[in-house]
Amino acid sequence: MRGISGKARLAGVIGHPVSHSLSPAIHHYWLERYGVDGVYVPLAIAPEDFGALFQTLPKMGFAGVNLTLPYKEKVFPLLDEIDETAQAIGAVNTVVFKEGRAIGSNTDAYGFWESLQACEALGQGKKKVLVLGAGGAAKAVVYALHRQGYECVIANRSREKAEAIASQYNDKVTVVGWGGIASLLPECGMVVNTTSLGMEGQPPLVISLEGLPVTAIVSDIVYRPRKTGLLVEAEMRGNPTVEGLGMLLHQAREGFRQWFGVLPEVDRGLWDHLLLRL
Ligand code: ATR
Repeated sequence: MRGISGKARLAGVIGHPVSHSLSPAIHHYWLERYGVDGVYVPLAIAPEDFGALFQTLPKMGFAGVNLTLPYKEKVFPLLDEIDETAQAIGAVNTVVFKEGRAIGSNTDAYGFWESLQACEALGQGKKKVLVLGAGGAAKAVVYALHRQGYECVIANRSREKAEAIASQYNDKVTVVGWGGIASLLPECGMVVNTTSLGMEGQPPLVISLEGLPVTAIVSDIVYRPRKTGLLVEAEMRGNPTVEGLGMLLHQAREGFRQWFGVLPEVDRGLWDHLLLRL
């Protein structure tokens, strides 16, 4: 078994709660795989302690941290630098402590885009994407797709949240009411669910894919269960699908690179390692 020395590099994930996080399992797979002298720990920090404890982390030797709920936005005033992507998305999920500075970035958009690369149909269909939802995950998905030249149409229960995202972009990001989805589907080359609907313990996502071209990619960022109702429906119609776990695995790569000095691969072994834990 891999041991660690007194020089081991430290990183972790801060959340409240954090016990559900798969990030320790992802990073420990890579630490082992690449023989890195390092550890990655879950840090359950209560909101009232977050500011003070966050600032002690570099003093304790941490190279950096990931952030999950509810800290992705709360961390902003504690950072010395926030990269352009994190500013545009309005959330930080990765922090590096470097030369006395705390630098925040957001790797969710990268993770989403990289997860799509496993799909052979990518780049072959229409450039219009229906994005379901307008929370933090939707912001990262829209950011990634817009950068890649896709046109996004956002549908969300609370329309004003969808409008707020669209207002950050040009006319390539627009909003549609839930009732307008059916007539939009024939024009779409991709559908992405970013809502929590379909997740274990949440209500199902009720949407018909009728009219969607069978070449269109259907992606769900929910990964518990691995195959959501949306993905099952898409597979039954013959649409190519992209599972949510891929985004989670890929978003973790850049943090690992910055803290531990190796850009790790998302390989079959990592998928198997994580699927056992879902
Ligand atoms: P995340 O950061 O993971 O995206 P979030 O910001 O809480 O999480 O966003 C959750 C998304 O799921 C939102 O788009 C939310 O819709 P609202 O903006 O209207 O709240 C959507 N969502 C959650 N529960 C829903 C439900 N029962 N019906 C419809 N949409 C729902």
